[in-house]
Amino acid sequence: MKKQSIGVGLIGLGVVAGGVARVLLSKKDALAERIGCPVVLRKVKVLPSDLERPQAKEMDPRLFTTDTDEFFNQPDIDIVVEAIGGENPALQFLQRALSTGRHAVTSNKEVIAKHGAELRALAEQNGAGLHFEASVGGGIPLIAPFQRDLVANRINGVYAIINGTTNYILTRMAKEGVDFAAALKKAQELGYAEANPRDDIEGIDSTNKLTILAWLAFSCRIHPRDIYREGISRLAARDFVYARELGYAIKLLAIAKQNEKSIEARVHPVLIPEDSLLAEVDGVYNAILVDGDLVGKVLFYGEGAGARPTSSAVVADIVSAAHDIRLGAGSGMRWGGEAEKVIKPMSEIETRYYMRLNVADRPGVLAQIAKTLGDHLISISSAIQKETDEQEQTAELVIMTHPAKESAMQQALGEMAHMDAVKEVSNFIRVED
Ligand code: HSE
Repeated sequence: MKKQSIGVGLIGLGVVAGGVARVLLSKKDALAERIGCPVVLRKVKVLPSDLERPQAKEMDPRLFTTDTDEFFNQPDIDIVVEAIGGENPALQFLQRALSTGRHAVTSNKEVIAKHGAELRALAEQNGAGLHFEASVGGGIPLIAPFQRDLVANRINGVYAIINGTTNYILTRMAKEGVDFAAALKKAQELGYAEANPRDDIEGIDSTNKLTILAWLAFSCRIHPRDIYREGISRLAARDFVYARELGYAIKLLAIAKQNEKSIEARVHPVLIPEDSLLAEVDGVYNAILVDGDLVGKVLFYGEGAGARPTSSAVVADIVSAAHDIRLGAGSGMRWGGEAEKVIKPMSEIETRYYMRLNVADRPGVLAQIAKTLGDHLISISSAIQKETDEQEQTAELVIMTHPAKESAMQQALGEMAHMDAVKEVSNFIRVED
């Protein structure tokens, strides 16, 4: 006999969980119609401090418990929604839900990036579903397309702006010429940055999300520690001015590519052509460009964070799990195999480079720099002398190269930093044409 109602247990009452609770209560009739029976919020596992949140005041106090055992021992919870973020205890909660045969829904990028494969196995062993649409790109449909609509493709590459906070900061630096610290402060005031903004600005959040995308896109095992990562804190307002003069925008991109033998995955600032689709993605918006052998290039664009967009994805996962439960279908998740793939070391990648150097303004300096680059088989595509400081007798040089190997570039940069004529290697940014 089909179930007469589906019980949901919610863990957390922060921005995401509060948004989910609100949708489950306010849209209960529409959801019941969609699923064929009511979806009932049966318990909310909270911390004592959550009870002070405005959302708690709007809800029936009998829903709350601070006791983990009481939550998991409640027999009428069919779907556990974890929305507390962070690795622990979220991982233990998801393991406990799946090992007791409950379907699990999570918005937690860190847990899925680090433990997705083991949670998937646990779900399969227990005939349960593991759903994580909200873990990347907030409300943007991404996980389901990778598991369904794009499966006929060999995915060649994924190029993504998947952190709204850093994209907001870079947009302000580019459009208003403000420096990094001022732009970060504004992002924090607006409530965009993570509790620890280091996760955003050092690219940790993007790395977790790229791990999930690469896992699904290439059906391979990958961990955040396999991904090369650089944040945005060393970008200066003048880099944006020079990049624009050269026809480029600067974005923090999460890039994953696949070739015959290996995959490459990296998160770092890049110069991208100003007329490319991703260059036009401004503010807190996210965009994910997927390149498949059949579909070509498809772009997913939208709000990557916030209570409403994220609850759109979480509630969609709840509905999907509820359908599986109603139909007695076990887990309707569509998983591919998982190949072992070699991850290309960063030293092996090849791109073009932008660099900004502060050098002595005297004859022969440019020739010395060109020789150092030439010794490492790096060819210059353009070199421009920007500002000159007559008092200090220094000048700023902006150099763009043709494609070169990262290892060669790092060696050349190391040598240049020790040259008498080079006061400072002020910045160095990869270019993605
Ligand atoms: N801090 C993240 C961002 C939130 O800025 O995109 C969503 O994961």
